[in-house]
Amino acid sequence: MKKKLVFSGVQPTGNLHLGNYLGALKNFVILQKEMKCIYCVVDLHAITIFQKPEDLNNNVLETVASFLATGLDPKKSIIFNQSSVSGHAELAWIFNCVSRIGWLNRMTQFKDKAGSDKEKASVGLYIYPNLMAADILLYKATHVPVGADQKQHLELARDIAQKFNNDFNCSNFFPLPEPLIPKNVSRVMSLRDGTKKMSKSEESDYSRINLKDKEDDIANKIKKAKSDSEAIPDNIKALEAKPEALNLLNIYSEISNVSLEKVLNEMSGKEYSFLKTKLTDVLVNEITPVGKEIKKLLEDKSHLMKVLKKGTEKANIIAEENLKNIREKVGLI
Ligand code: AMP
Ligand code: TRP
Repeated sequence: MKKKLVFSGVQPTGNLHLGNYLGALKNFVILQKEMKCIYCVVDLHAITIFQKPEDLNNNVLETVASFLATGLDPKKSIIFNQSSVSGHAELAWIFNCVSRIGWLNRMTQFKDKAGSDKEKASVGLYIYPNLMAADILLYKATHVPVGADQKQHLELARDIAQKFNNDFNCSNFFPLPEPLIPKNVSRVMSLRDGTKKMSKSEESDYSRINLKDKEDDIANKIKKAKSDSEAIPDNIKALEAKPEALNLLNIYSEISNVSLEKVLNEMSGKEYSFLKTKLTDVLVNEITPVGKEIKKLLEDKSHLMKVLKKGTEKANIIAEENLKNIREKVGLI
């Protein structure tokens, strides 16, 4: 049995939201109690779409602050930024030569992000999943907590690991990393359109709850969130064609730690305004303390820089040791 090791990454593109929190950060904290974990601010991924340098700098620190504010402990987990460990870029190049164009052509996130004019997307955006595979396998990580939107990228990372092991005749050299996707809310949806995932890039701020939102912001956004004109039903099937209502109920169920069935049992027949009042309360309770802590942590940037520096030192030791063996397998001198 290989030793379990957790790796995950979050892009420093500003404004972490409830989707990031329920899909990823909350699980990062739970896993930290049970296993060795490495959490990375993936700045090299962020620049696949142009970022203003000063914004990128601030957003890296804000992402670290968000990690700490949700409960990640730099004494337990390794917390660092990707570009400061050069092994990520080096292994990504090797994987560019292992991965196949046909595999990348199937990636739906590239299609979404590149939009209609693919010719104008950066080459980096296209080969982004190879870098993601390198992030994970540089540490030979076995488990990867992510939201459902990253499942396809994880499958690609497994394909790359498998092909490398076959090509270089070293079965079991790279583990096949397993995704850890939350069961209930693997995809938190936009508050304005229940068919789209909640995201940093959606134009309307009313579509998401940001970790830094104040009480009033949360109350307003939930009040304005789309729901349904009919009363809350007593079964999940009745919610199939009502994605916005289902999303609100799912978020409530997850944050209040009560199964969706039980929530429906308690609320069936009531108007959505009843759910919205309760949802606002639980969200304010859970999210506003995190937001306040992020703001407080951002007042001491040198502390955040120190956290990154220490994490980088620890990550580099593992990365260099593994890279030495990887270079050897490939035949690089
Ligand atoms: P990103 O901000 O794209 O780097 O995402 C960081 C983590 O948050 C990844 O594990 C994503 O899968 C997760 N995530 C992002 N948006 C959502 C969402 N709307 N629902 C659930 N998980 C999400
Ligand atoms: N692609 C992920 C996202 O957009 C971020 C990411 C980069 C990642 N490298 C990773 C997640 C490695 C898990 C493991 O959300």
